[in-house]
Amino acid sequence: MADKTLIAAAVGARTKAYAPYSRFLVGAAVKDEHGAVHAGCNVENAAYPQGTCAEAGAIAAMIMGGGRRIIEAAVVGAGEGLVTPCGGCRQKLREFGAPGLAIHVCDETGRIKRSFTLEELLPSSFGPENLSS
Ligand code: THU
Repeated sequence: MADKTLIAAAVGARTKAYAPYSRFLVGAAVKDEHGAVHAGCNVENAAYPQGTCAEAGAIAAMIMGGGRRIIEAAVVGAGEGLVTPCGGCRQKLREFGAPGLAIHVCDETGRIKRSFTLEELLPSSFGPENLSS
């Protein structure tokens, strides 16, 4: 069962998005190992590549809040297609993702369109353990 509070936080975060260039508003939320939910939105920039994704904002908020492990995640966006995390965000989620991490991809109302595991989105990934010799 997906955490309703988590999804509501992502829906709310989306309304704060700063996306004047793409006009594509995204919200994300992550639940940490303490059960706390942290949210973020995309923040674009006139120098386009400097924009940041909603997932990155949510992860930064989690770290600031003392969380180190992502137990469940949600991404919210409008449109026909799935708002799946971009490649860079998949790797960012990987850094903190608990085994089997579920990522719910939702429409702007919070309806889950599809849920993925991190392993599905980023198979055979490289993470902190791969650095140990
Ligand atoms: N974006 C996110 O914030 N997260 C995603 O999962 C996909 C894309 C943002 C980046 C950019 O501000 C806008 O959506 C269009 O790509």
